[in-house]
Amino acid sequence: MRSLIFLLTILSFGATAQQTGPERYTITKRLEAGKYAVVSAHPLASKAGAEVMKAGGNAFDAAIATQLALAVVYPEAGNLGGGGFLVATLPNGKKIAINYREKAPGKAHRDMYLDSSGQPIVSKSLEGHLAAGVPGTVAGLIATLPYAKLPLARLVVPAIRLAEQGYIITAAEARGLNRARASFLKLNTRPVAFVKDTDWKEGDTLVQKDLARTLKLIAEKGAAGFYEGETAQKVVEEMRRGGGIISAEDLKAYHAEILQPLQFKFRGYDVITMPLPSSGGIGLRQMLGMVENQPMEDWGFHNPKSVQLMIEAERRAYADRAQFLGDPHFVKVPVDTLIDKNYLARRMADFTPGLASLSARVPAGQIRESDQTTHLSVVDAAGNAVAVTTTLNGGYGCDVVVGGAGFLLNNEMDDFSVKPGAPNMYGLVGNEANAIAPGKRMLSSMTPTIVLKDKKPLLVTGTPGGATIITSLFQTLVNALVFNLDADQTVNAPKFHHQWLPDVVYIEKGFPDPVKYSLERMGYKFTSRESIGRTELIKITGKNKLEAVADNRGDDSAAGE
Ligand code: DON
Repeated sequence: MRSLIFLLTILSFGATAQQTGPERYTITKRLEAGKYAVVSAHPLASKAGAEVMKAGGNAFDAAIATQLALAVVYPEAGNLGGGGFLVATLPNGKKIAINYREKAPGKAHRDMYLDSSGQPIVSKSLEGHLAAGVPGTVAGLIATLPYAKLPLARLVVPAIRLAEQGYIITAAEARGLNRARASFLKLNTRPVAFVKDTDWKEGDTLVQKDLARTLKLIAEKGAAGFYEGETAQKVVEEMRRGGGIISAEDLKAYHAEILQPLQFKFRGYDVITMPLPSSGGIGLRQMLGMVENQPMEDWGFHNPKSVQLMIEAERRAYADRAQFLGDPHFVKVPVDTLIDKNYLARRMADFTPGLASLSARVPAGQIRESDQTTHLSVVDAAGNAVAVTTTLNGGYGCDVVVGGAGFLLNNEMDDFSVKPGAPNMYGLVGNEANAIAPGKRMLSSMTPTIVLKDKKPLLVTGTPGGATIITSLFQTLVNALVFNLDADQTVNAPKFHHQWLPDVVYIEKGFPDPVKYSLERMGYKFTSRESIGRTELIKITGKNKLEAVADNRGDDSAAGE
């Protein structure tokens, strides 16, 4: 059974998937499905996931095919040259997390982004070859493969087709490519598919032949098709031409990690989420733990009392993030304490209802508006649930395409704390725990999350949004589990965000003015942002009843049956 509640046809070209030429597609914001569903940032990527599930694949097959398709049709965040996290639950009760976060190259060092007087050179960790960490995505896909049913070569088919035949770009994509044009021209050492003689416009076709070749090598050779041989060689040559430091040894040594997810209870639900090197799982546990025993449902959704409590929980969790969190292979992180109930109760001991707490006074960071990470959620008929968040960090990463290989490299090195207390592009600060070291993974906020009710998946969710990821997840879970908002409101209700420093509350367009005024009287300062997060949610409402919601904030779209 399938009923489309909101179906927006944005483009309708004559070609079909079987014919040569760009594919037609529609954006589906909300979908009810009986067997399987996938929701991602792009309709063609969701469609790729649905295609492989229809062909006998499960949610893991779909997660792989969707990510590969996103690497083609969503170049600002979908990627081969970035990294990500996967959290999944299986019908037999098994739970897994896969860490394929990028690593600092072997030649990286602690002060590599500082000038001679010890000050950060901001552009250095953000733009160009030196900003890139060793990519993890392809290793992550290969680590996912044992849980999938179809061969890798089948899962790469939709991505190769989209790269070879091209796809029709939306207005938002045209704007993104045009904005990045000057940077692409400045930073690349070879011509790139993202730049043409004239500006991009809605309805143009983007063809990526080099990327198709790279995808074919992955299809044939798996991880070795990327981390060794022709593609690895192209990365190393690109680094030499552009002054980067990723080496053949860095690529060959890269491995994804299979981890136990972070698991905790919230009001009787089981929350299954990402452990370190994501700060997201710990942050989410802290925020939920700090509000768990308060009667927020009595106060009401978007009531000043509930919003204030949540802001103060956010502030405290981000303060801990800055102080304690980093790659656990390199630093000792007191995880058990940070997520302990009594510790969280003590953290909130100085909370005064009706009065804003004060964050320490340090210079405010520049928060760059960007949503260029991407999340996908998948559920299949067997009951597998998969949540994946993946990123290049900034939009189009470091803006460098590997010459001849057609994929963009990340600028994830900026997620390290380049200097204690110096804000990164999201205004996040950190210290020694997240300092740069060779082979170390930079701290992330990405928080793919699954909520179980009576041991079965209820919510499969996640979002991009840099620093706002953890607060978006926090609010998504509170919206659904405490305020009982429906799936659509859970995703689309305006959000608010506090990250300790700078000491302001970011509010999204549509956040109710009366609530803002009440909080201003308590001492809070506000800054407006166009949007916070782009959440993808699948809610399992009963046996064979899936509700997939794609965030209204972008071209996000659901597919399923
Ligand atoms: O891993 C992280 O936390 C960041 N690199 C995520 C970046 C992101 O979400 C971009 N969108 N705003």
